[in-house]
Order: sequence, then structure tokens, then C-alpha cells
Amino acid sequence: MKAVGVVPTKKEVALLEHAEPNLSSADQVRVKTLDVGICGTDREICTFVYGDPPKGSDYLVLGHEALGQVIEVGAEVKNLKVGDFVVPSVRRPCSDPICRSCVAGLQDFCFTGDFVERGIKEMHGYMTEQFVEAERYLTAVPPELRNLAVMAEPLTIAEKGFAQAYAVQSRLPWATPGDQPGKGLNAVVIGAGPIGILGAMKCIVEGFNTYVYSRSEAPNPKADLLESIGAEYISNKVVSPAELAAHVGNIDLVYEAVGVTSVSFDVLDVLGMNGVYIFTGIPEPDSRDDIATGALMRNMVLKNQAVVGTVNADPNSFAEAIADLGEFQRRWPKAIDSVISGRFSLEDYESLLVGKATGIKNVISFDA
Ligand code: BGC
Ligand code: ZN
Repeated sequence: MKAVGVVPTKKEVALLEHAEPNLSSADQVRVKTLDVGICGTDREICTFVYGDPPKGSDYLVLGHEALGQVIEVGAEVKNLKVGDFVVPSVRRPCSDPICRSCVAGLQDFCFTGDFVERGIKEMHGYMTEQFVEAERYLTAVPPELRNLAVMAEPLTIAEKGFAQAYAVQSRLPWATPGDQPGKGLNAVVIGAGPIGILGAMKCIVEGFNTYVYSRSEAPNPKADLLESIGAEYISNKVVSPAELAAHVGNIDLVYEAVGVTSVSFDVLDVLGMNGVYIFTGIPEPDSRDDIATGALMRNMVLKNQAVVGTVNADPNSFAEAIADLGEFQRRWPKAIDSVISGRFSLEDYESLLVGKATGIKNVISFDA
């Protein structure tokens, strides 16, 4: 089969020949790949800062955001059948029996760090014609989400993040009981890339007054998209973090989706009373900023603030992501469609992975 991957020893990003996978146990499913999303993680792997081939392979097939269609099921597969659309998850458990998370099927909270991730860490990804996966790592997708479900994985980042925020905030009377979880509360999303846009959609569906704080000055296509769904777009070139806070009022929740430390910590500085801040971005390990640690620490204590980092996602977040994509489609059919900025063929891999970053969410479509 054709596949796109990296060969770290040669620092090469290449179109590769990859062996067709076979079912090796009865709980597995063979999936024909339909769509694979390209994200910042893939582009970073192509700069060889991380991304490890499986043991014994000199290449790693890329791709961790995928939608496919079932073409074969093992004898013990219970809920999937040929023709079903599915989204696979990314992380697979470590094998250490002392890892309570992996034992519980919550490898997104793996304790040992010995997990593997498809398309990222020691396991081939989905940027190839077919893949085989155990049923428990696949989430079924209703046919009406055929064109959107490739965005499920990036949306799971928000799903897990919000679940963490709600767990933290169960410490106080945050939302009104019986009402939407964000009703009457203010959320700031930092960044207007795919993670930020999907996060803003999630905020609105949850009932938050939603502000997106990002770099480019409005008007621009991402700002227009966000305004069309009822978020307020604010450029950090025009409005300082202090002005943002004065405009918003108490900032109850921040969903960081930019991966840049400076603006992220500037906004942490204006997080409100009893606020919760969710970090999702992964900056360069050596990035440094001159931050006023005294003010940050005083605020955290005197304002009961909570800061949560979140990575990867559990099966429940995948189910929620599929449900929310359905909700986004009902509310904003045009806007959610336009998050997918382009569909390309596998042969376009080079410009997508190592060329200039363009658009919002670019997708490789195998039937394009
Ligand atoms: C993926 C996560 C993954 C993380 C770190 C992200 O791009 O969405 O599933 O855990 O990268 O490898
Ligand atoms: Zn990704």
C-alpha cells in the first residue's frame, strides 16, 4: 500500500510502500482509510524533533486524525459491521500492570510514559490505504458525519479538557444546577486554529459567553467564521490582556489552543476569580518568557484558580466528540464545513507537511 511517513535516520519525509495489514486477533477490524487530518504534531514530526518508528522499523507512517470505513471484521467483533464509518483513537496502553490508568482503559492518563501513539510514537499511523485496529479503539460514526468526522480527534482534546474543567469546578457552585454547564460564565479561547475553533464551538454549545483571543487582526476568514457562530473575536494586536479582562468581566474559563507561552501566560495573568485554565498546547521545551511569577502565584492563591494540563483523550471523549460534531452540524452547517479548508490527495503530502502552513484543517482524502 501507499503510505506517507518519516525516516528519522535519513531525515526524510517520503511516500513509502507499506505492507497491507492482516487481522491478527478476533477482536480486530480492517478499515479502509477515507480521510486523514494534518495537524501541527505531524508537521513537527516532519522536523524530526520527535516521532519514533515502531521497534524494528526504520520509518513511521504518519497520521493520527482519521476517518475510515470498515471492510472486514473479526469473529469476536460485537458492534461494528462492514460498511460502518469509524474514527480510531491515538494512544495505546503501556503493558505495565502497575499502571492503574492503562489497566482501566484510560491510557490518556498513563503513569509510566511507556504508552505508544499511532502515527506519533512507536506505532504506525493512518496515512495509508488501510489499517487494522481492535474494536475497542474505534468509535462508530453516523453516515451524516461522513464529511466532518475527521475532525473528531482534534475535538476530543476539547472534550477531555472540558471534562477536566468540570471535574475541578465541582469544588464550588459554578454552573446553575439543571442549566447548561457554561450558562452565565465567560470563556476565553486562545488561538483560532482548528483546536481553537472547535474549542470555541464546544464553549458555545455548553452555554459559555465565548471570546476568542488570537493574533491576526479582524477582519480575516477565521474571525468571520467565529463571529458567524456567535463567538466574539479579539486580536491581541489590538487589545491587551488587561483590556480583554476589562471587556469580558470575570474570566471563568480559559481554553488555551495556541501553544505559544507568552500570550498563554499573559492570559493566565488575567484569569478571574475561581477561574479554571486549561492548557492544551505543546510549546518548544526550551521556550522562556520573562513572567511575573509573584503576581501569578498571588492570583492563583487569592483567586482560588486551577490550572490543568490535558493531553490525548479517553473513549468517552471520542463519543462526545462525535455527538458534538452532530450538534455543530445542526447549528452551523456552513461554519463547521469550512473548518476543513482543503482536501488533497496523498501525493500532495510534501506541501501539506513541510510547506508553508495554510488554511485551517487540511485533509488527505483517499477517495479524492
Ligand atoms: C494528539 C494527541 C497526542 C499528542 C501528543 C496530539 O496532536 O492529538 O492525541 O497525545 O499530540 O503526542
Ligand atoms: Zn493532531
